[in-house]
Amino acid sequence: MWHGEYRDPRLVEVYDAERLLGWEDDFFLRILADRMAPRVLDLGCGTGRLAIAMAEAGHEVTAVDPAGPVLDVARRKPGAARVRWIQGSFEGLSPQSFDAAFMTGHVCQHMVTDEEWSGALHALRDALVADGRLIFDSLDPAARPWREWTRDGTERPIVLTDGSVVQAWTEAGPAGADDVVPVVHHYHFDDGLELTSTAALRFRDEAQLRASLRAAGFRVDQVYGGWGREPPGLGGDGELIVIAIAEPRILP
Ligand SMILES: C[S@@+](CC[C@H](N)C(=O)[O-])C[C@H]1O[C@@H](n2cnc3c(N)ncnc32)[C@H](O)[C@@H]1O
Repeated sequence: MWHGEYRDPRLVEVYDAERLLGWEDDFFLRILADRMAPRVLDLGCGTGRLAIAMAEAGHEVTAVDPAGPVLDVARRKPGAARVRWIQGSFEGLSPQSFDAAFMTGHVCQHMVTDEEWSGALHALRDALVADGRLIFDSLDPAARPWREWTRDGTERPIVLTDGSVVQAWTEAGPAGADDVVPVVHHYHFDDGLELTSTAALRFRDEAQLRASLRAAGFRVDQVYGGWGREPPGLGGDGELIVIAIAEPRILP
């Protein structure tokens, strides 16, 4: 099943059980608090953990995701009524309607082709006010992290709200052209049900991210390699966490 964690209600429950508020969310909330940003977009919001936390911090949050089943779970959470939930992606965003935009949890890696990624960045630039910030994370391909995505390296139990346990692991195929990595997630439920979910993730290096941002009208403010604001490279968390600023439009 393609992207089952976002599209099959049984796997959305498993996915959500693993997505507890963590240090990544603290990081993003601190970045958000660094500068005035009343209107916030969370693109690829998933089951809405961060969107709700940002709304609780006083921001006017619009949370967008193409997958209906994750939004169904998000809408039922405490605090969800403070967030405007929209099923869709970057195509329908209104111009200059946000002061900050987030894509967290490696959403950008689901935008596999150059066309989709460039389309997303241009739409986000249009949706932000001048000097608005785009903040996102992407796994750094430098250390080839997918090589560790084996059954031995990733198998873990996930406890659901009813107390049942799902045994889960991930396997990744070799990287193809442009560092597109095929991924298979396996889930074995207590009652004998076995489900798999497939995806493809695009890994872009720092130079590719910088070039694509520049082409879409952004200036890169910071790139961190970890949640402690370490520089990219060894010693961080294997992330490329980007803060980019929407350049003012030059009128003809
Ligand atoms: C790993 S989840 C991240 C969810 C959330 N942002 C978080 O930090 O936990 C990836 C999300 O990206 C969404 N997604 C995939 N392709 C997308 C696209 N083209 N535009 C917007 N969201 C997308 C998926 O539906 C899924 O909810």
